[in-house]
Amino acid sequence: MNWKAVPLVSPPGPSAARCPAHAGQDGAERAGAGGADVPGGHLEELRRQPLDLLRRSAEESAHRLARLDTGPGACLVVSDPDAVDVVLTDHDAAYFKPKMERWKQVLGENVLTSEGPAWARSRRRSVRITGARYVRRAARVVAEVTDERLRDWADVGTAGAEGTAGTHGISDIHDIHEEMRTLTLAAVLRHLCGTDDDFDLRAFGHHLRTVMECIHALESAPPGAEPSPRTERAFAHAAGELRAAVLRLVASHTGGDDLIGLLTGPPEKSPGEGRAAEPLTPDQVCDEVLAHLIAGHESTATALAWSLLLLSRDTDVTHRVRAEIGTTVGVRAPGPDDLAGMPLLQAVFTEALRLCPPAWTIMRATGRTCELSGVRLPAGAVLLASPYGIQRSARWFPRPDEFLPDRWLGDATAGAPRYAYFPFGGGRRSCPGRSLAQVTAGVVLTRVLQGFRLEPVGGPPTADVGIILRPSPGTRLRAVPLQAESAGQREESP
Ligand code: HEM
Repeated sequence: MNWKAVPLVSPPGPSAARCPAHAGQDGAERAGAGGADVPGGHLEELRRQPLDLLRRSAEESAHRLARLDTGPGACLVVSDPDAVDVVLTDHDAAYFKPKMERWKQVLGENVLTSEGPAWARSRRRSVRITGARYVRRAARVVAEVTDERLRDWADVGTAGAEGTAGTHGISDIHDIHEEMRTLTLAAVLRHLCGTDDDFDLRAFGHHLRTVMECIHALESAPPGAEPSPRTERAFAHAAGELRAAVLRLVASHTGGDDLIGLLTGPPEKSPGEGRAAEPLTPDQVCDEVLAHLIAGHESTATALAWSLLLLSRDTDVTHRVRAEIGTTVGVRAPGPDDLAGMPLLQAVFTEALRLCPPAWTIMRATGRTCELSGVRLPAGAVLLASPYGIQRSARWFPRPDEFLPDRWLGDATAGAPRYAYFPFGGGRRSCPGRSLAQVTAGVVLTRVLQGFRLEPVGGPPTADVGIILRPSPGTRLRAVPLQAESAGQREESP
């Protein structure tokens, strides 16, 4: 069954009638949208329905920049994959990550928030801790954590558990994103910090959600709008709680070959630097750990939630993936080498990231005057490169709204340019956790499909568009244990 996938793009109504895209004086096209001629005319749409706007820009300005009218300052959508390549690869250090001030209040200086030499040092550590040796270990940890969680899924049919409830062995998962978030956070803690004992996973998830919602609200407010004291208070409280949780974690760390061990161990000499750097202070260690905990679990959880929702609505693909799992690993947990031999499972995750990329837009700003796609940009221009907009373009992916993992198995995508698909970003700031995320997803999906049949609950899922693109809160899923099902079938048969 081809599922007309998540209706994340609302159909254009009369007010969204396309205005004839016209070249502006600077050579960039106006993004087609009602209200483009009103100063700040795209701002409201960008706040309310950013996916529609980005997608329309990708369709109408595929080879140009689309200028958004968001008030003072230049804001442009980059929908040409070759221009995305220039912006992300950035050989001339002309583009930087803007709007990091709020994140710095939570995370301090680290690989996510810094630029320059501080970023380069931090990035080296990040690349090391997400390298092949650690990914191999992570696969074992993820299988362990997943099996613990799935035992709860299987048990709730009779017992009931927080976040899940069920009857006759069927587990109703009340919020699949929350469920995956708890799982991936536990795995990342165990893998990167040695333990998740005494760590309140749900409280951490709750405070992180508050921080992300506050940052999204503050950043998408109209220019000049004063932040509400309530939002500021909520933000400060949640940020403080996140830092306190991580400081406790670091203080109780008893050594080990993990991220905290790396950060608290003897400082390394950086290439080109004569002497070793100063040891990190506890606050700096906290900055790095917090950044990795957040980056390491949230997007993976979201991508997993979308993958499971998509699978639950496609029984044909699910059967074929289960058959692939059966012939490759049987009932045991897969390691990275096994996953390399499971192309359909990998294609499912790749396709879920195409349809619903957690990082739905990647933002850069120009550090100086520069030229992109023949357009001269002033310093401080904001550029939006949207994996969502580009990856849903029929130009690169026929039947773009459909969940078709098979498109990744043949050569159907071979002709697409490099940046027609970039859920992990690209260039020097590309995601260092890509392999870790892919292995984590492979292990979790395998374990779930080995044990459960998935059933959708309610209509097609909708998206909550914030800092990440996640399923709306309360998106449910039903998991039927395969053992219980086959036992039931045996009982029923004459
Ligand atoms: C499906 C899961 C994931 C997705 C979709 C994802 C996506 C991304 C994207 C798009 C960026 C680039 C952002 C930009 O250029 O502005 C990024 C950066 C980053 N990601 Fe991931 N990520 C995932 C999982 C992970 C994991 C498991 C880790 C593990 C630690 C991780 C760590 C990071 C870090 C540290 C950065 C910042 C890199 C830098 O700025 O140099 N990510 N991620």
